Amino acid sequence: MSRLRILLVTRSNTVSEAISSRLQEHADFFVTKKIISNGSSDPMHNVQSKQDVMLLHYAPGFGELEHLAKSTIQKRMPLIVLGPANDPEAMRLAMRAGASDYISQPVQQDELSSALRQVSDQLKDKITEHGKLIAVTNSKGGSGASFVATNLAYALNQGKTNRTILVDLDLQFGGLSRYLDLKPKRGVAEALEAADQMDEVSSEAYVTRHNSGLRLLAAHTERLLLSRDVPAENFDGLLQILQRNNDYVIADLPRRIDMLSAMLLERSDQILLVVQQSLAHINDAARMIHLLTKELAVPKDRIKVIANRYSKKSIIDGDDIKKALKIERIWIIPNQYQQVSESVDTGIPLMQDAKNSAAGKAIQMLEQNVRGIDSEESPAGLLGRALPSFLGRR
Ligand SMILES: Nc1ncnc2c1ncn2[C@@H]1O[C@H](COP(=O)(O)OP(=O)(O)OP(=O)(O)O)[C@@H](O)[C@H]1O
Ligand SMILES: [Mg+2]
Repeated sequence: MSRLRILLVTRSNTVSEAISSRLQEHADFFVTKKIISNGSSDPMHNVQSKQDVMLLHYAPGFGELEHLAKSTIQKRMPLIVLGPANDPEAMRLAMRAGASDYISQPVQQDELSSALRQVSDQLKDKITEHGKLIAVTNSKGGSGASFVATNLAYALNQGKTNRTILVDLDLQFGGLSRYLDLKPKRGVAEALEAADQMDEVSSEAYVTRHNSGLRLLAAHTERLLLSRDVPAENFDGLLQILQRNNDYVIADLPRRIDMLSAMLLERSDQILLVVQQSLAHINDAARMIHLLTKELAVPKDRIKVIANRYSKKSIIDGDDIKKALKIERIWIIPNQYQQVSESVDTGIPLMQDAKNSAAGKAIQMLEQNVRGIDSEESPAGLLGRALPSFLGRR
């Protein structure tokens, strides 16, 4: 069953948190939060990603329902309004804006879920199954994001049923083709240009295949492509095709929040933030988590922090990182200079030649978690078990 993409629009942080945390308990709902600030009456302002239904928390006097009522029927998406009880004017406005349901506050969870399920049933044929989108980025350049993205994608693609594509979104300096020793003829830039006429079959013409079966949509290397030159709808269209066509889409992102990366981060199922053990990395990771959760309203539980090149000699350990970033769990990939540099230099993924090395095993743990098959062991337990073997504490 594919998930219903819900755009939750409100002016209140409290309402946003309360409603989204309840909805996120349902595995078949995917919530994107949007807080509107004074001055704008368009609930879709700056929303780039494709959504199935809008859940609008209505507060009188800001004009959102009036704005929606004015838009053409073709442009409207299914709408459910949460508003004050016994307010005939609010109910009338909701009807005019095309709402299929008006749910009075305080919101009853059952009533809300059943209204959303109704929309989901109506859209059944339109909501297509889509693969998981995983963004990999770093808190500072050179942390190992591309290494993690490549090897995670390689590991995921080994599972026979997991069709995986690796996408290089470092449009200016991307080098994933080097990591896989491939010479792409086409890539992201050409795919974006053609996105408006592309379908699942023709999209494969832009992909380069590794001999393991892993597919790469490479970054452009011949000419400069700036993210501001890419129309948002082409990027959205390309992502939709990639997600429909694959079980996993692994996107390697440079550390920059611009229109394209914001769109991708907002709709990612998981964001892997690769850091190293230094104060500078941790400070930047904290800033990145702040931007993701506050500016892009990404729920914190979609962010996974990966401490790469981990060494017991550092004065900063895993617990310090967790405490500083206020997170419960981190994933650790040990520092294995020789094997990793050899893999990067030869273009043979570590997971191909050395999957049982310490770093390889750490990637396997991450891969199992991404696939949702790791044990619900406590973070301390996992860390405790993983650490001694490669830190020589046993
Ligand atoms: N676990 C590791 N152990 C040892 N070396 C590593 C490890 N992970 C990455 N490296 C090394 O770090 C270097 C940088 O890695 P990578 O290119 O993946 O970083 P990045 O975060 O993608 O950098 P950029 O910001 O340039 O995109 C690589 O040359 C690689 O050899
Ligand atoms: Mg990189």
